[in-house]
Amino acid sequence: MIEVKGLTKSFGATKAVDDLTFTVQPGIVTGFLGPNGAGKSTTMRMILGLDRPTSGEALVEGVPYRQLKQPLHTVGALLDAKWVHPNRSARAHLQWMAASNGIPKSRVEEVLRLVGLTEVAGKKAGGFSLGMSQRLGLAAALLGDPKVLLFDEPVNGLDPEGIHWIRRFMQSLAAEGRTVLVSSHLLSEMSLTAQRLVVIGRGKLIADTTVDDFVQRSSEASVRVRGPELAGLRSAFEAAGLSVRDDAGEIPALLVAGSTTDAIGEIAAGKGLVLHELASQRGSLEEAFMKITGEDVQYHAAGLDDVMGGAL
Ligand SMILES: Nc1ncnc2c1ncn2[C@@H]1O[C@H](COP(=O)(O)OP(=O)(O)OP(=O)(O)O)[C@@H](O)[C@H]1O
Ligand SMILES: [Mg+2]
Repeated sequence: MIEVKGLTKSFGATKAVDDLTFTVQPGIVTGFLGPNGAGKSTTMRMILGLDRPTSGEALVEGVPYRQLKQPLHTVGALLDAKWVHPNRSARAHLQWMAASNGIPKSRVEEVLRLVGLTEVAGKKAGGFSLGMSQRLGLAAALLGDPKVLLFDEPVNGLDPEGIHWIRRFMQSLAAEGRTVLVSSHLLSEMSLTAQRLVVIGRGKLIADTTVDDFVQRSSEASVRVRGPELAGLRSAFEAAGLSVRDDAGEIPALLVAGSTTDAIGEIAAGKGLVLHELASQRGSLEEAFMKITGEDVQYHAAGLDDVMGGAL
């Protein structure tokens, strides 16, 4: 279990992490979600004792990281996969890590097998692809067979197969009863990987809930309506107090917010208007996420608002 209590980190005038409180439970994958600059990496670094909190604390299995007697056996982390010595082989790298932590050599072969690197273990890690480097980083994190695992943006830059593999791997680690915290700035990715979400923006907690709940809550439902008399339909819905906009697709259609297909069908029938299509739909996850964290994004793309004339 990871417990974050009132955690705060200031860099000069910037509050990178601002009074964060949440817990991460074992047995499930917890997604740590937030836009660029939200404070995900800084929070993870504090959990791992790499950064000192300005105030508050982070506990791993009940104690601060620095007080763990055997840190590698308690917490494994993948923060930056490219820190291995480029001229060392994957096996030599892991053996060196194992030796300095009193871990037997047999465990090195075990973790190499777990991440599927046995065949290339004798090759120099400097020549590894990003996907292979990530696997090596995972192998290193797993050396001490830790109960708690932290992964900072582990799928960044990976191809779909690599992403799929990492996703499955994290889920299997959680299924073994481990505590798994994985950060990302993509809600769509997290919705496929995690069961719970801790969402932050500008260092502050935005949501701490299940993925299903967050997705439900954040993606606005609307009803898509198509018929031969769109103008008539539009005025009928507007007369009923509903908000109507044009669908962006090629075929002319309307999107009605805050209603149901039942209610829309009845309004149309009441006016004797023919319907060719009536379907409920949800907005895209990323759209919803951007809306929720919108005010919390630190770096808005410069000038984009001007170019789009406020359409964003
Ligand atoms: N060592 C540092 N010195 C000064 N400011 C820092 C330092 N580390 C992080 N920050 C600032 O703290 C804030 C949070 O950064 P952090 O890297 O934790 O965000 P993040 O959520 O991991 O973002 P990303 O998605 O880009 O990785 C940012 O404003 C960043 O510029
Ligand atoms: Mg980061």
